[in-house]
Amino acid sequence: MTIEDCRADFPITRDLIYLDSAATALTPKPVVQAMVEYDLRYRANVGRGVHRLAAVATHRYRDARDAIKSFIGGESGTLAVTRNTTEAIGAVVNGLDWRRGDRVATTLLEHHSNLLPWLRLRERGVAVDIVRPDAGGSLDLADLEAAVRDDTRLVAVTHASNVLGTVLPVREIAGICRDRGARLLVDGAQSAPHIPVDVAAIGCDYFCFSGHKMLGPTGTGGLWMREPDLEPLFVGGGSIESATADGYILAPGEERYEAGTPPVAGTIGLARAAAYLREIGMETVRRHEERLAARLIDGLAALDGVTVAGPDAPGDRIGVVSFTVEGMHPHEVAQVLDEAAAVLVRSGHHCCQPLMEHLDLPDGTVRASAYVYTTTEEIDTLIATVEEIARRAI
Ligand SMILES: Cc1ncc(COP(=O)(O)O)c(C=O)c1O
Repeated sequence: MTIEDCRADFPITRDLIYLDSAATALTPKPVVQAMVEYDLRYRANVGRGVHRLAAVATHRYRDARDAIKSFIGGESGTLAVTRNTTEAIGAVVNGLDWRRGDRVATTLLEHHSNLLPWLRLRERGVAVDIVRPDAGGSLDLADLEAAVRDDTRLVAVTHASNVLGTVLPVREIAGICRDRGARLLVDGAQSAPHIPVDVAAIGCDYFCFSGHKMLGPTGTGGLWMREPDLEPLFVGGGSIESATADGYILAPGEERYEAGTPPVAGTIGLARAAAYLREIGMETVRRHEERLAARLIDGLAALDGVTVAGPDAPGDRIGVVSFTVEGMHPHEVAQVLDEAAAVLVRSGHHCCQPLMEHLDLPDGTVRASAYVYTTTEEIDTLIATVEEIARRAI
């Protein structure tokens, strides 16, 4: 499938210019169809019954989970289905046996979901070292290296910034972690949807991502673990091998992390989304977004009264661009873009308030985020409308 062909699968794009894919992506028809098929043709609970529908549903659910695992190159590890990235990160934060005096290193580029849970660990005597990017939002790897000490148990970093679109060198960071004996958690919420990901090649211990940002349904995500070394947050139906009145034995594989009925339709839909992205090709997705982002940055940066946030030097990036318009609150800009040109963007802090403070952007930014269905014409409409808005604001 070519990237041009896929647009017809996203009916919302007929009426609107959807540039808020970093918040949640649109869902193509085949993903919806895969979920409807489960509900209408073989709906049953999984991993429990022996009747024919239970057998089909269990088989399709497990296949779906394997397909999602393979999409991120995770065949060698364990993938637990979660509700989203936030829940996956929470499963790591709460599944490790922290001791007073342990240290965690993270960065100020993080989404609240990969910052606040670590800050909360301070209540349990864990120290948190936060590496700050420079005033333009670039992270110096030497600063990160200096923050990873011998007593650092875990490093938690985003793979791609949901504000600036920059991609972090996670392989190099994994090397630093290996040298110091620290585990590495990668927040893949913005990388799994947009660039080829191979968790084995990265060398991380945990990789967390959301289905709804990669063309899949809401309420789905994943926690990939190199080793299933976390204490499960919940136990109950589906997560044990056997139980007596005195105790229980946890199931050996992914099931131990999936107590209760999992999101069966959602997981099948997410696997279909992964297959859909594979049909386009993740390298094609990456190049498409890089091209759109370059056009957007050039177009916006040339406008009077408009400032593009983020590092000056070009580097690896996804199709996320943040900007401000002089004299206007980002929410106001977003409102006018919607009313004047049906262009939908996000505005504000993007769940990265400490980063915004650091970048001296107290009101946040306007953020445009592209995806497979975004066209060059849509980017040009955004630029032309921002030009009009900025002219009136000055
Ligand atoms: C980098 C990053 N991490 C974590 C999250 C949280 O994702 P979710 O709300 O699906 O848990 C997001 C969502 O925007 C994100 O962009």
